[in-house]
Amino acid sequence: MSAAASGTLTIGDELTVTRLGFGAMRVAGPGVWGPPADRETAVGVLRRAVELGINLIDTADSYGPHVSEELIAEALHPYPDGLLVATKGGLERTGPGEWPRNGRPEHLRSACEGSLGRLRVDQIDLYQLHAPDPDVPYADSVGTLKELQDEGKIRHVGVSNVTVEQLAQARSIVDVVTVQNRFNLTDRSSADVLAVCERDGLGFFPWFPLAAGDLAQPGGHVDEIAAHHDATPGQVALAWLLRRSAVMLPIPGTGSVEHLEENVAAAALELSDDELEQLEAAA
Ligand SMILES: NC(=O)c1ccc[n+]([C@@H]2O[C@H](COP(=O)([O-])OP(=O)(O)OC[C@H]3O[C@@H](n4cnc5c(N)ncnc54)[C@H](OP(=O)(O)O)[C@@H]3O)[C@@H](O)[C@H]2O)c1
Repeated sequence: MSAAASGTLTIGDELTVTRLGFGAMRVAGPGVWGPPADRETAVGVLRRAVELGINLIDTADSYGPHVSEELIAEALHPYPDGLLVATKGGLERTGPGEWPRNGRPEHLRSACEGSLGRLRVDQIDLYQLHAPDPDVPYADSVGTLKELQDEGKIRHVGVSNVTVEQLAQARSIVDVVTVQNRFNLTDRSSADVLAVCERDGLGFFPWFPLAAGDLAQPGGHVDEIAAHHDATPGQVALAWLLRRSAVMLPIPGTGSVEHLEENVAAAALELSDDELEQLEAAA
């Protein structure tokens, strides 16, 4: 079993990664707050992900906060060649499940410095602005990432939770190489943003990729297709994403090795054209 079955995506014309990534939000404690109940398991999940051929790990300073980045460094530093650890800044944490936005330049600067230290690197390969802050002009937040790139602290810039208009605005300020928006079988509201990424060759990281909702209920389309492939609904949801677009790089997250292995196995699940059509029509 290998994530390599998902194929590859080249980010920013130079970083080629396997198209099935890993989201490291779920290695923190419940509510993405504090340390995990079992640190050894969390470290084991991260190491197993890389063993299984995953070489893009998505994290953020706000996961824990800090816990996810610290665990990644503990598990994997010095990083193997070709491993891309992508992090994000722009959210704060005030408690479990609370994520206030902060896109002020001074916050983004200190967030980036913190991530550099926790990840133990001199430069972050891919730094993503976690979300636009309605209280701060988006141009000011994106402009700060451009400055950090000019200073050598960031190699490539990505954005997250953006509209088509916000993506265009960001790209007028800095070269944006990836977008990370919520997208799955039951929530395709970012299809317009995905279309821009496809047209212009930007990577698209769909977050919450495993959601299959009612489609996974017994008798639903996903359930039937899953049964046909002797797979789980979650695996069908991932296979559908991988098939949906060549710029798609799902980042399913888990704190369990068993779930990780199940998710990686989805890289080899090939949906027929007919199944794809059924899933396209279903949501
Ligand atoms: N940019 C943003 O605003 C944003 C927002 C949310 C997430 N993200 C990123 O996207 C990644 C994925 O998002 P997500 O974690 O919300 O959604 P997800 O990957 O679709 O779902 C993760 C959830 O599904 C469970 N799970 C995973 N594999 C499973 C399996 N094989 N069988 C049963 N349950 C399974 C996990 O629990 P267990 O731990 O028990 O397996 C966890 O509760 C995050 O890790 C993060 O990197 C970004």
